[in-house]
Amino acid sequence: MSTKTAQESRWVAAEAMDPAGGKNIDHLLARRLLGIEMSGIRQMFELAGGDSVNLGLGEPDFDPPANVAKALEAAVAGGNNSYGPTLGLPELRRAISERVKNFRGEDVSPDNIIVTAGATQALMLIGQTFIDHGDEVLVPNPGFVLYGPQARICGGFPIPYSCGHKTDYLPDPDEIRRLITPRTKLLYVNTPSNPTGACMPRSLIQELSDLAHEEDIIVVADEVYDIMSYDKPHQSFLAHGDNIIWVNSFSKTYAMTGWRLGCLATKTSYVKAIEKMHYHTIACPPTPLQWAAVEALNGPQDAVDAMIEQFKARRDVIVQRINEIPGFECNNPGGAFYAFPRYQHDIKSKEFALRLAAEGLICSPGTAFGTLGEHHLRFSYAASISELERGMDILKRVAAEIPFREKKAKKRKVTA
Ligand SMILES: Cc1ncc(COP(=O)(O)O)c(C=O)c1O
Repeated sequence: MSTKTAQESRWVAAEAMDPAGGKNIDHLLARRLLGIEMSGIRQMFELAGGDSVNLGLGEPDFDPPANVAKALEAAVAGGNNSYGPTLGLPELRRAISERVKNFRGEDVSPDNIIVTAGATQALMLIGQTFIDHGDEVLVPNPGFVLYGPQARICGGFPIPYSCGHKTDYLPDPDEIRRLITPRTKLLYVNTPSNPTGACMPRSLIQELSDLAHEEDIIVVADEVYDIMSYDKPHQSFLAHGDNIIWVNSFSKTYAMTGWRLGCLATKTSYVKAIEKMHYHTIACPPTPLQWAAVEALNGPQDAVDAMIEQFKARRDVIVQRINEIPGFECNNPGGAFYAFPRYQHDIKSKEFALRLAAEGLICSPGTAFGTLGEHHLRFSYAASISELERGMDILKRVAAEIPFREKKAKKRKVTA
C-alpha cells in the first residue's frame, strides 16, 4: 500500500468516527467563507450525462492556436521554467500595453500592466487591495458569478444594480447613482456581458465613467469578451476616464481557459498597491505560459478570427431557434457566447434547468447570476451547430410540456 493511500484511509477512518461525518467544521472556518456557495453553473455541469448536450459552461470548444501551443513547448524546452517578475514578463506586459493602447487611444506604458493567473485572480486581487471591512461594491444583476462572493470574501457587501430585461440588460446610471453611498468603493461593469451578451454603447460607458469620477469610486471593467463583439466594434471603458481598472484574459480569446492567464491595466499608483497583494498571493505568474502568451498577442490572429466567425454563425442559429419556441424571447446578444432568453412558462429557472438536464440538455439557470435572472436560462453556444440544433430540439419539446404563467391582473385605479 502506498503512503498516499494509507494517509487517505486514515482520513477516511477519522471522519467516519466523527458523528457529523467530518462535515461540521464551521467552528474552524474563517468567517469570510461562511455562506459562500460554489457556483450554480458548476452544479449543473456535474449533472451532465455521457451524451447530454452541454450548453452550460463558459469556455470555447476550440484548442489554443497551434503557434501558441508550440511556443509553450519551446519555452519549457528552452529552460524558461524559473520564477519571473511579480508583475509579469516585460515582453508580455509590452505586448498587452499595445493592445490597451488601441482601446485607450493613447500610448500606454508596460508599467501600467499586471499579468495575473486568469481574470479570476485579477478580480480577486482588486478586491483584496481595495475592499475594506464594511465597504460596498456595486455588482450587476444578473452578472458574472464571481463579483459578489469575491467581494464578500474580502469583507465587503455586494450591492446589486439591475441589468435585467426592463433595461435591455444594460445598467441604468440613475439607479447606480441612487445606490452609491459614502461606503461605495468599486463599481463592477462587464461588457460584453456574461450572462446576457449585452454590449454597452459608448454613451453609456461615458456616463458611467463620469459618474464614477464625480463620486470618487473605481470602475472595475471586466472586458474578457472584448474580441467577441459581433455586430459593432467593442467599446472599452479604457477610452473613458482614469479611475478604472481594466480586466482581461487569455482564456476566451485564445481558447486557453485551463492555462490560467489574465491581466489588468490601470494607473501606476494602483499597480504599486496591487503588486504587494499579487506577490503575497502567487509570487509571479507562470513563466513558460507567459512566453506562449507573447506569441498569442504578437503572432498571427487568423485562428482567433476563424473562431469569432464561427461563434457569430452559431449565435444566429441559436437565437433564431429559441425565438421560434412559443413563450421564449431572446434578445440578439451583441457579444460573448451566451444566449439569455426569457420565458413565460410557469416554472422557476432552477427547476427548468434541472428538468432539461434530466432530458439531456445542460444549461445554467438564470438565477445563478442574480435574482433578476429568474425566468431566464443561459445557453452557452460554445458547441457545434449540430449540437446546438440537438439542444434546441430538447428545449422545444420540454417547453411544450410546461404551461405559461398567468399574467398578473393589473391593479385597477379606484376612483371616487
Ligand atoms: C465575465 C467574466 N469575467 C472573468 C472570467 C474569468 O476568466 P478567467 O478564465 O480568465 O479566470 C469569466 C469566465 O467565465 C467571465 O465570464
